[in-house]
Amino acid sequence: MYVLQAENITKVYGGKFEINSNNALNGISLNIEEGEFTGIMGPSGSGKTTLLNILSGLDEATLGKVKIMGKDIASFTKDDIAIFRRENLGIISQDFDLLEDLTLEENAILPLFIKDDIDEKGIKDKVQELFRFFNIWEQKDKYPHNVSGGQQQRAAACRALITNPKIIMADEPTGNLDSRASTKFMKYMQMINENKNTTIMMVTHDSYAASFCKRVLFIKDGKVYTEIYRKEGGKEFFNRILDCLAIIGGEIDEI
Ligand SMILES: Nc1ncnc2c1ncn2[C@@H]1O[C@H](COP(=O)(O)OP(=O)(O)OP(=O)(O)O)[C@@H](O)[C@H]1O
Ligand SMILES: [Mg+2]
Repeated sequence: MYVLQAENITKVYGGKFEINSNNALNGISLNIEEGEFTGIMGPSGSGKTTLLNILSGLDEATLGKVKIMGKDIASFTKDDIAIFRRENLGIISQDFDLLEDLTLEENAILPLFIKDDIDEKGIKDKVQELFRFFNIWEQKDKYPHNVSGGQQQRAAACRALITNPKIIMADEPTGNLDSRASTKFMKYMQMINENKNTTIMMVTHDSYAASFCKRVLFIKDGKVYTEIYRKEGGKEFFNRILDCLAIIGGEIDEI
């Protein structure tokens, strides 16, 4: 079953509507099946964050259709979308979105307090397990502005993972991590994808992180340029990803 579908999505921010290559998205179509682990790559400004925002119901497409579990998102009320996001999605946004007045631990457990059945012991165990795994347990009582970008990013990841979401949408989740933390994070994604069948969509500029995915979509100028599937080991897939990036062009450090 497809969990998410985009049909010919065009997004124009503000201004006058016309179909042209300056649009943030320019006719994107894609299907995401349950249990897929998809990487999304493309130059800065190619529309990756815009696409995730539209698929998660945070933003609306100017043209085109988004379907969630086969149902047109246009038929959802605002409440339906809020419930879908709360119950199914774990979102790691590009700028973390941590609340400045809460500690890292408080930020991470926030999604659980929106639920009715609060199991306080369970929450404490779960947050401890995640924070220890991602090596930020020592920082749990600190506020976002008193920790590093990488520590904030890992706290944002813990907040997204704490509800065991069915779908994870992560926008450059390893962008601020060193290679060790990045590998650990990607192995965790791989583990929940394999063991819990979690559907993952991950925007990344990092070819190594992308090589953990089962499929990588390349976006350019608001369109899907090409996509590749992993059939082989990570190293060979990594090399194919590099080849695709070379073909889609642009400055390599932009990617
Ligand atoms: N709120 C906004 N208002 C107007 N234009 C926007 C807005 N958000 C994004 N854009 C524009 O839409 C295009 C796509 O932006 P988007 O943030 O989706 O790119 P991206 O692929 O995520 O880039 P990056 O890799 O730098 O995060 C860019 O040209 C950007 O300037
Ligand atoms: Mg972005």
